[in-house]
Amino acid sequence: MPASLTLPFLRYHQIPIPSPFHLTRCSATTTTTTAAAFSQIESTLRKTMDRLAENARLMIVSDLDHTMVDHHDAENLSILRFNALWEANYRDNSLLVFSTGRSPTLYKELRKEKPMLTPDITIMSVGTEITYGNSMVPDDGWVEVLNQNWDRNIVSEEAKKFTELTLQSETEQRPHKISFYVQKDKAEDIMKSLSTRLKERGLAAKIIYSGGMDLDILPQGAGKGQALAYLHKKFKAEGKLPKNTLVCGDSGNDAELFTIPDVYGVMVSNAQEELLQWHAANAKDNPKIIHATERCAAGIIQAIGHFNLGPSTSPRDVMDLSDTKMENFDPAYEVVKFYMFYERWRRGEVQNSELYLANLKSVCCSSGSFVHPTGIEQPLHDCVNSLRTCYGDKQGEQFRVWVDQVLPAQIGSDSWLVQFKKWEQSGEEKQSCVATAVLSSKDVTVAEGLTWVHVHQTWLNGGGQNGQTTWLF
Ligand code: GLC
Ligand code: MG
Repeated sequence: MPASLTLPFLRYHQIPIPSPFHLTRCSATTTTTTAAAFSQIESTLRKTMDRLAENARLMIVSDLDHTMVDHHDAENLSILRFNALWEANYRDNSLLVFSTGRSPTLYKELRKEKPMLTPDITIMSVGTEITYGNSMVPDDGWVEVLNQNWDRNIVSEEAKKFTELTLQSETEQRPHKISFYVQKDKAEDIMKSLSTRLKERGLAAKIIYSGGMDLDILPQGAGKGQALAYLHKKFKAEGKLPKNTLVCGDSGNDAELFTIPDVYGVMVSNAQEELLQWHAANAKDNPKIIHATERCAAGIIQAIGHFNLGPSTSPRDVMDLSDTKMENFDPAYEVVKFYMFYERWRRGEVQNSELYLANLKSVCCSSGSFVHPTGIEQPLHDCVNSLRTCYGDKQGEQFRVWVDQVLPAQIGSDSWLVQFKKWEQSGEEKQSCVATAVLSSKDVTVAEGLTWVHVHQTWLNGGGQNGQTTWLF
């Protein structure tokens, strides 16, 4: 990435002067927000849980393997670009839904391997398991729907008679999903005769072939498309149908996502033959479905732009992160931008300029403090100073920083409480924390950007045993 001369934070004229005025302005903000902040933490949490009650601006329903997640992108750049876009522009008003063929076990493994955001809704096992929120609360209503006319034993018994079918691992066998591997050239015939046999036994099952190797047998009413239709129906009943839905996929089990009424769809550039064939035969005249020219998550970003579903420029693609063109204060964008700069600074991708640090200081309240996840409290300005010695310390390394679930809540006429998770990856090592920040718009213009008044971090998953010394912000 080219080094940029443009400053990320535009406060040329506001290099902090430790004048009594400046201190008063900040401490006033601190005292008025602290009490309010605590009661707001609760309501922010509630808001996170109640998010599904809102009418979403955009609902993205995306497959994971080879769609959101590019297994050929060692640097994870396309998903990190999507993450920054989503957190800066959509998290607060939209819904992120992951719809994967993976069982909960393999889904959790993928989350450990890749820099994935936390979705609002997780649909697993090819649309047979729907869960909500961070704690993945299962939808029991969906289980009841799937139980209708489904007899797992009969399906299993009939399928096992086909010697060409090899059973997948135990983790992938689920209450409403039986999965095998089968060679490409045999798949079609087997699907036909298995389907006939099941009908003879009074069962209408759905058989899906994906990725040129996986064969899944599900209840007739299951599948990724039916799970989405079920969610749409639920939202509609509450008058909360998302304004737009974008479905994203690459393989056979994603095909039915594209059949749900009114959705926009993107088949990523690297889509499998079976999905492209399905599209050619069934949906080639639908202008709401595109075959992206970009791979995986980059294809999703491309579709957001193509269909005009909202902002489609990821902050990761912008070197000049100043706020000059913004119309309103935007706390989520501020958080994404801050950590973007922090990553670039340590990777040595911006210029090693004192001006950057001076500008950073000017967006940090001079009486503001930072509570490090180890519990050590420091003035925010000292944290900025400590950046001086780590410029480019991660140059040439696989060092990435991203934020997840950035949720701002306005807690005063000029202040916001923002909660988010911050992740830092350095080579194989990953660390994360939950952060709470108070940002203020007092005495600043939109172009200058919000002031960081207070930041408090707590390790997530007991992390931080090793890298405590290099975790700076
Ligand atoms: C995932 C699942 C597998 C399934 C495949 C296609 O890879 O782990 O069980 O067959 O998706 O749906
Ligand atoms: Mg896939």
